[in-house]
Amino acid sequence: MPQQGKQLYEGKAKILYATDDPTLVIQYFKDDATAFNAQKKGTILDKGVCNNRISAALFAYLESKGVRTHFVKQLDERSMLVKKLEIVPLEVTIRNITAGGMSRMLGIEEGIMLKPPVFEWHYKSDALSDPLINDDHIIAMGWATAKELSAIRAESFKVNDALKAFFNDRQLDLVDFKLEFGRFQGSLLLGDEISPDTMRLWEHGTRNKLDKDRFRRDLGSVEEAYKEVLRRVLGESQVCR
Ligand code: C5P
Repeated sequence: MPQQGKQLYEGKAKILYATDDPTLVIQYFKDDATAFNAQKKGTILDKGVCNNRISAALFAYLESKGVRTHFVKQLDERSMLVKKLEIVPLEVTIRNITAGGMSRMLGIEEGIMLKPPVFEWHYKSDALSDPLINDDHIIAMGWATAKELSAIRAESFKVNDALKAFFNDRQLDLVDFKLEFGRFQGSLLLGDEISPDTMRLWEHGTRNKLDKDRFRRDLGSVEEAYKEVLRRVLGESQVCR
């Protein structure tokens, strides 16, 4: 069992700690919530617990579908052991239904089905609010190679197919989500987290939002939404806080 070492990094929603194994780190999930590039700040009670458990379950599910991830195991309520990645400074977004940034950028209403799904690259930069970029920006800037981009793109669509089916079985529509990838011993692995902080989930039929938009847009019942997603991810038989 790797021992927790010094803090390596504190982000908006997570803290990374070293372990006595240089290839592994501990990812700790906080209750802190930010939106609109940290202009809005708050706390969502037990969000860290929900996101840790949801991410652990989704990483394990994706591994079972052949997606290689940084996930090693869940350690406790708020932390998981993960492989230490050299993060590629890109955020991938896949959109199945219009919402959020795409609706704003193009002036289109939310809730329109996108066929095929829309794939976006964003440059990971808080200072620049993660701008939308294309393959040429990435290759010209040396952030990743053309080969890496095609591997990440293919893997992201595999994740979309797997997660869409997973949530469909749980009466949730996967509207969109964000992924991050990193390099580990010569291969690319899916990193970061997969949680209601990083995806939009709408209840099938009612389109009730069960994700961070409840916090961003002051819709109320924020904690309940995270707990409901956890309940659906783990299944009815699992007790959650
Ligand atoms: O805001 P936007 O519509 O571009 O977000 C698309 C998806 O990516 C949403 O599910 C959102 O929660 C997620 N996202 C994220 N981190 C960001 C930006 C967006 O997890 N920095």
